[in-house]
Amino acid sequence: MSAALTAVTPEVVEHPKMTVIGTGYLGATHAICMAVLGFDVLGVDVDQSKIDALAAGDVPFFEPGLPEQLRIALDSGRLHFTTDFDEAAAFGDVHFVCVGTPQAPGSNAADLRYVESAFTELARRITRKALLIGKSTVPIGTAARLTDLVADISPLGAELELAWNPEFLREGFAVEDTLHPDRLVFGVSSPWAQQQLTQAFLPILDEGTPVVVTDLPTAELVKVAANSFLATKISFINAMAEICEATGADVNLLATALSLDSRIGGRFLKPGLGFGGGCLPKDIRAFAHRAEQLGVGQAVAFLHEVDDINIRRRTRTVELIREMVGGDLRGQRIAALGAAFKPNSDDVRDAPALEVARMLYMEGAIVTVYDPEANENAHRTYPDLTYADSMIAAVIDADAVALLTEWREFVDVDPDELGRLVRHRRVVDGRHVLDADAYASAGWEYRALGRPATAKTVSLASDTRDGVFA
Ligand code: UGA
Repeated sequence: MSAALTAVTPEVVEHPKMTVIGTGYLGATHAICMAVLGFDVLGVDVDQSKIDALAAGDVPFFEPGLPEQLRIALDSGRLHFTTDFDEAAAFGDVHFVCVGTPQAPGSNAADLRYVESAFTELARRITRKALLIGKSTVPIGTAARLTDLVADISPLGAELELAWNPEFLREGFAVEDTLHPDRLVFGVSSPWAQQQLTQAFLPILDEGTPVVVTDLPTAELVKVAANSFLATKISFINAMAEICEATGADVNLLATALSLDSRIGGRFLKPGLGFGGGCLPKDIRAFAHRAEQLGVGQAVAFLHEVDDINIRRRTRTVELIREMVGGDLRGQRIAALGAAFKPNSDDVRDAPALEVARMLYMEGAIVTVYDPEANENAHRTYPDLTYADSMIAAVIDADAVALLTEWREFVDVDPDELGRLVRHRRVVDGRHVLDADAYASAGWEYRALGRPATAKTVSLASDTRDGVFA
């Protein structure tokens, strides 16, 4: 759809003022980028410390490029922050709800309490026509339920409309994905909502970004279906790695051959320690849970297997390290390089790297963890582990080195120099990013999941949009 061709009805605000509720990862990025794009934006959070940090120009998490954008946005005078919902309700023509939907304790379901509270707080205060736009990842049917809730409590009744606009940004690429997304999805219930959303995204639409206009449930489904597909693709190649381990085949050669089939492609087909983070794992669980509630659990029963394959990669990595050090981890010094769930992030939620470090520790290994950005968060999660403040400090006298998150500094290190620091030249490449030949010629025993012990260097299909191993 061409934004320029969309006729604007009188009630549609052409240059809408925006609020962004929730200034975590998604909300802070969205608020900052929208202000950079020229909109007046009010970021809202119940956490005063987050609001104070952002208002002072500090991004409270690690995201490359975002601090610079925050500075630009603050200097423009278009971005402000508050904890006051009255102010937010009075300010916004459109309100983006970007609060978290974590996995509920003791269940696979998503915890919707923050979403419900954000919509409730807004709905009871807004007294002029405005659009409430959900961006959080929610179970299918939530938007319809919230529509009824909002109509019940709003002084405007059904006049206060809801739309759903799922977010596809990746940590580490948040600015790029927000300013230049592959596509936009507008889940709407009326032509007015579609037009108001169009106005809110005009600068991005004007770049030629495709937009898919849907009903509310389809918009909710797009998000979880996309994350499920990505998780399935990763687990598919990791399942093949298990077959490789049983047969002597090499998963890197397999992945390379598969990726050259243009119908398959190489993105998200990198074998290794598997997926983690605050999205893919909990989203596939919540999706399977919701499908079961809807009576169509069988349709996505495979997602349980996707999850299981993914978790097995962690135990298999520990096994590989154990084999390497002679069958018993007790008293063995292991350097765990990486804690974040992926490079260019300090996020350790459901991080495979940190989980492997913890399992090694539980088996009696002396584990030293080093992550360029995530040490602090990792320490908060597992205070019992030892953390080093450099790669060098982590590897000194190690009996084995485990590369668990593919930060550039780990990929680039010279194997011979590294070898001079360790007690035994043994490395497990949990992310398939090291130069196997270079390590072998420097006298290292090199092992990677799904690859024979004699594996040679195979460069996997790469894409600059997917991270440092591109
Ligand atoms: C993911 C999706 O990619 C985004 O589109 C989505 O918006 C976001 O979740 C969300 O729901 O908010 P993110 O969690 O930042 O983004 O991380 P990804 O880049 O998708 O990586 C997820 C995990 O998969 C990482 O642990 C990564 O190491 C792993 N991975 C990725 C592989 O093991 N192999 C691959 O080939 C690619």
